[in-house]
Amino acid sequence: MKLAIVGAGKMGGAVLTGALRAGVLESSEVGIYHPSDRRRDEMAHRFGVRALDDDGVDTAERVLIGVKPQAFEAVAPLIARRGGCFLSIMAGVPADAIARRVGSRRVLRAMPNLGARVRLSSTALAGLPEATAEDVAFADDLFSAVGRVHRIPESLFDAFTGLAGSGPAFAAVVAEALADGGVRAGFRRDVARDLSRQVLLATARLLEDSGPADLKDEVASPGGTAIAGVRALEEHGVRYGLLRAVEEAAARAGELSDEGEA
Ligand SMILES: NC(=O)c1ccc[n+]([C@@H]2O[C@H](COP(=O)([O-])OP(=O)(O)OC[C@H]3O[C@@H](n4cnc5c(N)ncnc54)[C@H](OP(=O)(O)O)[C@@H]3O)[C@@H](O)[C@H]2O)c1
Repeated sequence: MKLAIVGAGKMGGAVLTGALRAGVLESSEVGIYHPSDRRRDEMAHRFGVRALDDDGVDTAERVLIGVKPQAFEAVAPLIARRGGCFLSIMAGVPADAIARRVGSRRVLRAMPNLGARVRLSSTALAGLPEATAEDVAFADDLFSAVGRVHRIPESLFDAFTGLAGSGPAFAAVVAEALADGGVRAGFRRDVARDLSRQVLLATARLLEDSGPADLKDEVASPGGTAIAGVRALEEHGVRYGLLRAVEEAAARAGELSDEGEA
C-alpha cells in the first residue's frame, strides 16, 4: 500500500479525492485510519479505499497526517515507527517537532489551501533533508493533483500561510464588499453576488497574462469611472489594509507555530 491517511477530513479528503481522480493513486493503494471502527469504515466507504486498523498503518510506504494539530499528540505514538516517511498537512506544526514524535526524520510538510476543493490549491512543500528524492516526488505528485505546488523553505511557511492560506478569506471579503456595493447601487443580492464573483473569476484569468498594475491601467481610462473608483479605494486605504492583512495573518501563523514547537 502506497499511502495510509490518518485524518481524512475536509483537507485530507480533498487531497485524496484529487489524487484518485488524477490517477496519482489507485484506490487499492490507499487506506484510511481512524480510531473508531465505525468512522474508519464510513470514511473508507465514502472514498472507496481500504479501512486500516492500527497494524494496517504500518504496512503503508508513507503516512499522510491530516488530523488537526491538537489531535497530533494522541495520534503520534500510534503511527510512530522507524524509517518511514510522513507527509503532514497540519498547520503550524514544524517538521522537526513531527520527526521527534514519530521517530523518523523522513518528514515532509505541506500547506495546501481551500482551493484544493476545486483543484486550484496553492500548496507549499518543504521537508527535512532526510526525506528522499522519491518522498519529495511522491508528495509533489500528490499535491499537484489538487493544484500548484511551491517548493519553499520551511522558514517561509508562515508567510505562505499569510498570503495563500488565508488569502481566500481576504478575497471573499472583497467579493462580499463588491456585492454590497452592487446592492447599494440598486441590484438584487443574488445578481450583485453573481456579478462580483464573475468579476473576480475574470480578473484571475486575465492576471495569468498581465501584471496587476497593467490590468488596472487598461481598465482605468482618463477621467473615467474606474479611476474614480480607484481613487476611492486609495482614500479608504484598501491597498494598505490588504497588505496588513497578509502581514498580520503571517505573524499569527508564526505565533501558532511557536506554540506547536513547544
Ligand atoms: N481546511 C483547510 O483549509 C486547511 C488548510 C491547510 C491545512 N489544513 C490542516 O489540515 C488538517 C485537517 O484540517 P481539516 O480542516 O481537514 O479538519 P477536519 O475536517 O476536522 O479533519 C480532521 C479529520 O481527522 C479525523 N481524526 C480525528 N482524530 C483522529 C485520530 N485520532 N486518528 C485518525 N483520524 C482522526 C477527524 O475525524 P472525525 O470527523 O471523526 O473527528 C477528521 O476526519 C489540520 O491540521 C489543518 O491545520 C487545513
